[in-house]
Amino acid sequence: MVDTRDTAVREMDISRPAAARMYDAFLGGCHNFGVERAIVERIETALPGIAGTYVESRAFLRRAVEYLLARGVRQFLDLGSGIPTIGHVHEVARRRTRHFRVVYVDNEPLTVAHSKPLLAANLNAGITNADIRDPQAVLESSEVRNMLRMDEPVGLLMSSVLHFIPDSDGPADLVAEYRDRLAPGSHLLISHVTDHHDPVAARTLADLYAETSDPLHLRDAERIESFFGDFTRVPPGTTYLAEWRPDPGTPSAASLRLLRGGLARK
Ligand SMILES: C[S@@+](CC[C@H](N)C(=O)[O-])C[C@H]1O[C@@H](n2cnc3c(N)ncnc32)[C@H](O)[C@@H]1O
Repeated sequence: MVDTRDTAVREMDISRPAAARMYDAFLGGCHNFGVERAIVERIETALPGIAGTYVESRAFLRRAVEYLLARGVRQFLDLGSGIPTIGHVHEVARRRTRHFRVVYVDNEPLTVAHSKPLLAANLNAGITNADIRDPQAVLESSEVRNMLRMDEPVGLLMSSVLHFIPDSDGPADLVAEYRDRLAPGSHLLISHVTDHHDPVAARTLADLYAETSDPLHLRDAERIESFFGDFTRVPPGTTYLAEWRPDPGTPSAASLRLLRGGLARK
């Protein structure tokens, strides 16, 4: 395969909204600037109730990480981690055990800079500045080599990140490269923005993200499902996120059905 992915180091650009800080703003965090708050406000005006989609995404991540912890997975590689606050992987893990390791990966320089002090007191969580389109750079990073054992089962998390990879960068081949590098017993988590349920809302969201440093690429349910390859789907398979193993007694899901995902085992 000819590698045409442009994985040059991403420059810091605080003049345009960044997905990590928009996500933080939607969750009510304080790691964001005026440019992010302004576009978040416009998105909320265009798509009332959209903030619930981000809350739903974080809740899916929590349920999936809890599922993995309950089955003995203790190592996590979180690709496109954003700013690890408000119920991120290490916060979920440490409620259950002290014996876990998380390596977060992001290529947005300020996101990594904001994350480092947040993680400084956590000996079992670290972050590396790398582009996930370069699996070799991710897997050979000092954080991954020092903190994870890739010859043992890992939870590989691709939560709300693949929709930032354009088709021209071959997302299917990229995910396959990561799948191939995982030890048996590893799991792959994917969540992805989709136009499967509500194409008009999805297009509106993508049009607004087109103004940011992180344009969105919508994919249908079939494409998202195919990223899991031959891994064994954890029931109920790939679903609208709020329908994936919901907590008992969970109130009804957010009104906008924009994210699909699931978990699968090698
Ligand atoms: C929407 S946030 C998702 C945060 C987190 N995974 C979650 O679900 O809560 C997406 C993150 O992916 C990062 N990202 C986008 N493209 C990337 C790439 N090629 N390599 C590394 N990180 C990337 C962005 O900088 C951003 O922080």
